[in-house]
Amino acid sequence: MKIGIISDAHGNLEALTTSILFLKDKTDFLAVLGDTVGYGPNPEECINVVVSEANLILKGNHEEGIITGNYRAFKEAARIALEWTEKILSDNALTSIKNFKEKDEMDDVLFVHASISSPLFKYILIGKDAKEEFALLDKSVCFFGHTHMPVGYRKNQEKEQIETIPSDFSGRLKIEISPGYKYLINVGSTGQPRDGFPFACVSVYDTEKRLFNLYRIEYPVETTRQKILDRGLPSILARRVYQGI
Ligand SMILES: [Fe+2]
Repeated sequence: MKIGIISDAHGNLEALTTSILFLKDKTDFLAVLGDTVGYGPNPEECINVVVSEANLILKGNHEEGIITGNYRAFKEAARIALEWTEKILSDNALTSIKNFKEKDEMDDVLFVHASISSPLFKYILIGKDAKEEFALLDKSVCFFGHTHMPVGYRKNQEKEQIETIPSDFSGRLKIEISPGYKYLINVGSTGQPRDGFPFACVSVYDTEKRLFNLYRIEYPVETTRQKILDRGLPSILARRVYQGI
């Protein structure tokens, strides 16, 4: 099976639809790892696309914020965008969000938004964080998002060593899943990358070849940038999508 993986679309309809189109003839299953809303100008449309296209949909911390109405943990721009999102979402979209799962799995693969120990909130940022998560991982591979930074970690099961697998000079990531290792793989962000490359992150995992590929694709970012400004959302959010920061 070839699994398409998208995370953190964040209301960026142009990035989301371009990514799904890119995956169409390459995959037979679509997993969406949460934060489909927040920051961006098209949360309702992004929920609708994900609900109609994806086979597995997770909840992220931004969906949880909308459900609970608790925005204390969010920085100002994120909070303003979430308050706006909450106001414009339809009852239908809210019902969909409430039904998204916190984690899911398929055969030897686990999917979470942020981490295994705290599926909605805890950031895996460095090897020490990964070490704590590997202790909880009973599959070969766990895919996650949340930090908006593509990166892999692998743990040698015999030596217990943990290595970081960085993305390449263009923000892409290719990982062969080897026997004797476990993997934590951050699929980056489709709608608001923060690694200095503004191109949408979109991933494919081939379960037979045990090969993971994270691609970076161009989308009409100027349209998204202008929509963010037209909706009166914080201008820093327009700059972020444009610059990939
Ligand atoms: Fe996010």
